[in-house]
Amino acid sequence: MTAQDNGLVGRRAAALPASATASLDASIKDLAAAGHDIINLTSGEVDFDTIAQASAAGIAAIESGFTRYTAAAGTAQLRQAVGDWLARRHGTSYGADQVVVANGAKHALFNAFMALLDPGDEVLLPAPYWVSFPHLITLAGGSPVVVRGRAENGFKITPGDLSQHLTGRTKVLVLNNPVNPTGAVYRKDELEALADRAAGANLRIISDEIYAELAYPPATFTSLASISQDAMSRTVTINGVSKTFAMTGWRIGYAAAPLAVAKAMAAIQSHAASAPSAISQRAALAALTSEGVVAELDRRRASLDSRRQVLLGGLRGVPGIGVPFEPAGAFFVLAGVEASYGPRGDGTVIGSAADYARHLLERELVGVVPGESFGAPGYVRISYVAEETRLREAIGRLRRFAAAAPQSSAMVTPG
Ligand SMILES: Cc1ncc(COP(=O)(O)O)c(C=O)c1O
Repeated sequence: MTAQDNGLVGRRAAALPASATASLDASIKDLAAAGHDIINLTSGEVDFDTIAQASAAGIAAIESGFTRYTAAAGTAQLRQAVGDWLARRHGTSYGADQVVVANGAKHALFNAFMALLDPGDEVLLPAPYWVSFPHLITLAGGSPVVVRGRAENGFKITPGDLSQHLTGRTKVLVLNNPVNPTGAVYRKDELEALADRAAGANLRIISDEIYAELAYPPATFTSLASISQDAMSRTVTINGVSKTFAMTGWRIGYAAAPLAVAKAMAAIQSHAASAPSAISQRAALAALTSEGVVAELDRRRASLDSRRQVLLGGLRGVPGIGVPFEPAGAFFVLAGVEASYGPRGDGTVIGSAADYARHLLERELVGVVPGESFGAPGYVRISYVAEETRLREAIGRLRRFAAAAPQSSAMVTPG
């Protein structure tokens, strides 16, 4: 109990830490509101407009009065469309009754952990991880067990890494592919090996594939459940319309799962949230089924790929920043900043990724996310969702920031 909460808050909620990046976010907003020329590379969403067909369908839903409760797991039409989309794009075969539409992929994940976990179950969580995973797991009564891959291999985990962390309590393996925050993409053979090891230990798998449409050639995306019948039978696939169709604010995500798990998730959702917004469901349906949408996704992917290359190319020339591997998915670069640690010519001292991010924002007005809350101390996540000219400007500012550090601490690039 703290002085502030007077014991009002229960133990589970009291144990939830405040967001580690909240104060940085607040500083970015304050500086921007004060008219400073901030280059904000912290974004977790694409900067394209929502797919036009989806917006039109949302408006039509309101105008036609499609504004009431739907079935808790989503409309039959949308669940079918999700199954069809996943079959067409990723080669899985989910029926409508195996799909549960939720209020975003995050909510779908919450439903999945609630459906799979009993108190004390251990969940293998590869690091670096998306910030919400550890908290989703603990809220559902589980214990996250962090598994760390090698940086040179994009931090991707191997069956050997899994084996080292298996205990009698291990129940679930979380995979996020492509990975937030590293941008790594698992190859099919890597997934096959992991699925094999998971089968050997009788693990359930939660496969968060929210960035599935953002793998840049020659990298290709493989859906875990498409690998084999066995993989399909132990996997809950998580995805949604947020990142794919630029629909983060519409709050539609989904899970596709073995029937018993889908039923459990639908029951949980029916009591906790009823159904997601009927209007947003109509919009998502249009995104998944309209002509021309896939071609638009191809154009958007190519645009992000081009920005990825601008950022990666530029970062290679910035002293004190190391990029241990080339990310091929999502829209993030995880950059090592330990070589920037130490006292700086401007009187400041950098001793952590959080210090680096704070000083970079204060001195050069560039926002990046420090890696501590991703399980990646020593790294910052740089998003390339910005105009290419702004990315180039950011590189210039990063170089200037590096130049304010004494030679000895700024010129080493970590491996
Ligand atoms: C790995 C991962 N999973 C899930 C989500 C949540 O997606 P949604 O906005 O659909 O809830 C995000 C969003 O940043 C994410 O990065």
